[in-house]
Amino acid sequence: MADSHHVVWQQAVVDFVSDVAENIRRIVLRTEHPIPVRPGEHVDVRTTIGGEPNLRSYSVVDAAEDGTHLALSVFRTPTSRGGSVFMHSLQPGQLLEITEPLQNFPLRIGASSYLLLAGGIGITAVAGMAALLRRLGADYRLVYVGRSRESMAYLDDLAAIHGGHLEAHIDSEGTSLDVQALVGSVPDNAELYMCGPIRLMDAVRRAWIERELEPTSLRYETFGNSGWYQAEPFTVRIPRLGVEASVGMHESVLEALQRQGVDMMSDCRKGECGLCQVKVLELTGRIDHRDVFYSDRQKEPNTKMCCCVSRVIATEPGATPGPGSAVLTIDVP
Ligand code: FES
Repeated sequence: MADSHHVVWQQAVVDFVSDVAENIRRIVLRTEHPIPVRPGEHVDVRTTIGGEPNLRSYSVVDAAEDGTHLALSVFRTPTSRGGSVFMHSLQPGQLLEITEPLQNFPLRIGASSYLLLAGGIGITAVAGMAALLRRLGADYRLVYVGRSRESMAYLDDLAAIHGGHLEAHIDSEGTSLDVQALVGSVPDNAELYMCGPIRLMDAVRRAWIERELEPTSLRYETFGNSGWYQAEPFTVRIPRLGVEASVGMHESVLEALQRQGVDMMSDCRKGECGLCQVKVLELTGRIDHRDVFYSDRQKEPNTKMCCCVSRVIATEPGATPGPGSAVLTIDVP
């Protein structure tokens, strides 16, 4: 079955589940339409949670060569919108509706050197790239950052496979990553592929720009789910349409407005394409921009935002942000 984006959906069967790190479960799926999986690919998973449709993207961490089986690894987020809790409840034999493997984080073959950077669960997006670069005999480094050894999925496996190509930076062991030093150590013509928390990716992006490295050589995958601040409920208003909605902790502005029947444009739902952008008319609180679509300069005046991922938090000027009564007044295209 193809939807309007010509994405092919299929029924997959859960074959095997196992815990691979603190709050991270590996889920191996048997596919209905096997297609070989390329590094950087993900699948979208469609479920219904609490009566509401839920769509989430997960990187394919590894797969059988013929694509008959593929493995996802799902982090159960403390602020889960229900998706990761549901994924952790899956048991062998259950059916799951997934897309064919989709690519929006392609690895360009032929660069003279590669740096792959993973923060936490972001390892799922770059592990396949590292495996391919190793097979190709490419010049690569895999830098894996995490809070603690227990929280880092596949760390031992990766160390066994990649040997000296792997560098682990573990906060609890006092070996946290120095982003400036990392970007400073990259050869001029290297390509960097990264997936991880927004703070890490933002720091790398800044250091990359400062060093005046080629912007197109910095590539990233974001699943748009971690912000600068803890998510909290707030109110969104569209005066022109007479609409007011409460945005819960576990949903986006986009979802809250769609629930109210507002016709919204969207595509990636990960803060990458900008299709869901709205004009900010008034703001009580502060915007937590969680997208990677706008530049810092575009984000700063807080006149627009990607409503599939970005949120609002309550704060008084100069005060520490905390739950309160933030209100976002917008207009939609
Ligand atoms: S839908 Fe793509 S940025 Fe929001």
